[in-house]
Amino acid sequence: MQNKLQLINIWFRFPFSDWIFRNVSLELENGIYIIVGRNGVGKTTLLRIIAGILKPQKGRIYINSKEINSVKDAVKLVSFMPSSPYNMIIGPTVYDDIKKAVKAFNNKLTAREIIEFFSIEHLKEKKVFHLSYGEVHIVALASVYALGTPIILLDEPTVGLDKKYREKLVQLLRKISGDRIVVIAANDLRLIPIGQKIIALNNGGIDFIGDPKVVFYNYLEKIGVGISDIVQFAKKMKIESKPITVKELKSEILRLIGDSNARL
Ligand SMILES: Nc1ncnc2c1ncn2[C@@H]1O[C@H](COP(=O)(O)OP(=O)(O)OP(=O)(O)O)[C@@H](O)[C@H]1O
Ligand SMILES: [Mg+2]
Repeated sequence: MQNKLQLINIWFRFPFSDWIFRNVSLELENGIYIIVGRNGVGKTTLLRIIAGILKPQKGRIYINSKEINSVKDAVKLVSFMPSSPYNMIIGPTVYDDIKKAVKAFNNKLTAREIIEFFSIEHLKEKKVFHLSYGEVHIVALASVYALGTPIILLDEPTVGLDKKYREKLVQLLRKISGDRIVVIAANDLRLIPIGQKIIALNNGGIDFIGDPKVVFYNYLEKIGVGISDIVQFAKKMKIESKPITVKELKSEILRLIGDSNARL
């Protein structure tokens, strides 16, 4: 099913703060979207607004044409995985947890199917408080998926994960985004290449929204990304020549962007 999330002319601020969002509009369909921007710019706030947890002072939010004014309106449409998902899985075992999530909104899939889909059969009888940090993230994602909502919001899902679990998480995100809208707030710029679109926030709103390659070209310098992130990005984009100098990397990136006149 094609889902649609619409934010229309959103204005938001906390009491006594400046506007965090001034007249922000956004329309998303199924796929993965990565929200980037400096610490404190409003990434988590945007997720909370979409989930109905924070109410904008002005503007409207629609999910599949239903207007969202509170958590109650959003509860069957949006699930939100916070940056420390420990307290969102209740157990006692992984299987129990996923079963409860499945039952909550009558997901079409069974707990068994979800466990298989996420390749976590080896964890299913484990007590949730025995899980490792990485395992908690994967189980929390399975649990969120089990709720069956068309929109999944993830706040910094890769924090503290090693390479193996980060790659597993990315693989799972790709798997689940076919029929859902997945919005990820991320300081981990290694996630940029998996985004269908990148939403870059700056003071008061969306500074830029677009293709990851274009973001790379237009934006990374502005948000102060270091060279290791660039190398990671280049690897993900399958730039083959290794080892690569910064100069070669720049020319490869310009080639990827397809603009030989561009300056990087
Ligand atoms: N409940 C609150 N009351 C007042 N100000 C808040 C509240 N929650 C967040 N803020 C402020 O709103 C701004 C945006 O916060 P938010 O958590 O959305 O940033 P972020 O982009 O997610 O940052 P980070 O990258 O550090 O996670 C920050 O300046 C923060 O201090
Ligand atoms: Mg945040």
